[in-house]
This record gives sequence, structure tokens and C-alpha cells, in this order.
Amino acid sequence: MTELQILEVDGSRAADVLSVVHEAFANRPPLDPPATALEETEESIRKALDANGGLLVIHEGRHVGALLFEERGRMLGLRRVGVLGSVRGLGVAAQLASRAFEIAAERHCGGVELEARVELPRTVQFWRRMGYVESGRNGNRLTMLRLLPVTRTLPTADDTRDFGGWLAGLLRPGDVVILTGDLGAGKTTLTQGIGTGLAVRGQVTSPTFVISRVHPSTQGGAPLVHVDAYRLDDELELDDLDLDTDVDQAITVVEWGEGKAEGLAHSRLQLHLARHDDDSRTLTLTPVGPRWRDLHF
Ligand SMILES: Nc1ncnc2c1ncn2[C@@H]1O[C@H](COP(=O)(O)OP(=O)(O)O)[C@@H](O)[C@H]1O
Ligand SMILES: [Mg+2]
Repeated sequence: MTELQILEVDGSRAADVLSVVHEAFANRPPLDPPATALEETEESIRKALDANGGLLVIHEGRHVGALLFEERGRMLGLRRVGVLGSVRGLGVAAQLASRAFEIAAERHCGGVELEARVELPRTVQFWRRMGYVESGRNGNRLTMLRLLPVTRTLPTADDTRDFGGWLAGLLRPGDVVILTGDLGAGKTTLTQGIGTGLAVRGQVTSPTFVISRVHPSTQGGAPLVHVDAYRLDDELELDDLDLDTDVDQAITVVEWGEGKAEGLAHSRLQLHLARHDDDSRTLTLTPVGPRWRDLHF
């Protein structure tokens, strides 16, 4: 194994971070407007590192990667993410990104946010592979966001229903919730709680013979569209739902939706339920996309 070290650093390592930033950014294609990384000085880097810290990657004694942290409200911002061409293929950028995500959790941030240039599609693609989605655009600058997952212990079926009821209070028309977990994990039970919270008509059950069922609101609110994608082999298309209800106007909950329902909405809530021997469940909630950026789960 090659020796790779990722250090969390402050302003005392400004010179080392600056050397990586300059070398990494000098090798990028020219952009318009140009990237300002080459204008960084030891002083500007020291200020940034003393304020929010950063990461420095050392490989076989050489400084080969770096980034700066910045405060972006509840999000941990990443700036000047740079890796030297000499270590390409070693996964340095991925490890740097993973470490930054861990630090966001340690600092109790909601997630990680950064800007990527649209002219650098491979960079954008890299962040997508790392679980980031586009959350905004300003000229040629894309904002990309990855939110931290939240976990809850749900001791009983009623706790799972109550959680669904609580979640329903946060949901708005157009929201998509994707539920995963083995058979019997509690996906339908959680959906029942959402249905109760939304005050919709009809019993929420496993839609065994139909792919989806629409539950209208009893209070003039958004209907609940409950989908069971278990028997669908391919990616779910809106046409498959065969609904006379518009997903934009409904709250859509898809059981077994992982890998099938992501195309339904750019922003979605991914919920995974894992069952334990004592019948309790661990819920892992992963918010994806700008819709959830400012919500506390
Ligand atoms: N903590 C819990 N959370 C959810 N369901 C639970 C829990 N403890 C027991 N159960 C029971 O487990 C079953 C879960 O079934 P269901 O919700 O249909 O699962 P799925 O839709 O994931 O296949 C229900 O009978 C429910 O009463
Ligand atoms: Mg079910």
C-alpha cells in the first residue's frame, strides 16, 4: 500500500497548502472568467486556514492535495480542492472528499457544499459520483451539495408510524420519498404514518397487485401517491405510474425505490430501514438535493 496521509491543518501549513493550490490550478485549462486560485497568497491561505481549517494530503513525503474549508451557513464549504497530476489514479481526490464529509459530520454541519465550473465536466462528474447533486447555478459556476444522513432508532411499529406522521408535517406537494429495506423492514408501516399525518383517505397497505395507489386528502391538501416498485425491473418512469395525479402536486412515497425512482425528482428523501433481532428498526434518512438544505431532521 502506498502511504497516503490526510492532515487537518491550520494556518501554520499555509505555505504547503499554497504550493499544492498553485500547482494544481496552474495545470487546469484556462477558464473565462479565470479561476482566481492563482491569485492566492500565503497570507490569504493562512487567513482562510486559521478561520476554518483545511486538508493537506501527503504522499511519500510530498504535498499532493489540499482544500480549504469555509463556512456556508449550516453547510461546510469546500474551496480550492486541488490534487496534483502526479498522483492521478490513486484515488486521492475521493479520499480527500470522504475526509471532508467526515469532518462536516464532526462539526455538526448539515452537509458539504462547493462550486464547480460547468466547463470542467469531469470535475462535475467526479462530485456526482461522490453523491453530490446540483443545487444552484450562477453563470458558469454550479453549486453542488451533499447532505449528511441522519439516523433514528425506532423501537416499535408505533414509533415507526409516529416518525412517518412527524415527517408528513415537513412534506410538501412535489416531494418524493424513497423507502428501502428488506421485506418486513417497516416501509409500509412508515408510509401508514405518513398517510395519517397527511390525513388522507383509505387504508395504506402493501399495494400487492397494483404498482401505485392514490390516497386523496380529506382536508384539501396534497394527495399521497404510494408506489411499490418491488416488481419493477427497470427504472420507474412517470408513465409506469399511470396516474391521473401529477407528481408535482402530490407527495410520492416509493417502496423499494432505490435505483428505480431517483429519476422522479431531483430532490428526494432516501429512507432506509434495517430490522434488528429485538424488532427495533434503525432508520437512516439521507436527504438529497437543495429542497432539504435548510431543514433540520
Ligand atoms: N419497530 C418497528 N418498525 C416497523 N415495523 C415493525 C416494528 N416492529 C415490528 N414491526 C412490524 O413489522 C412489520 C413490517 O411490515 P411492513 O411495514 O409491511 O414492511 P415492508 O413494507 O418493509 O415489507 C409490521 O407487521 C410491523 O407491525
Ligand atoms: Mg411494503
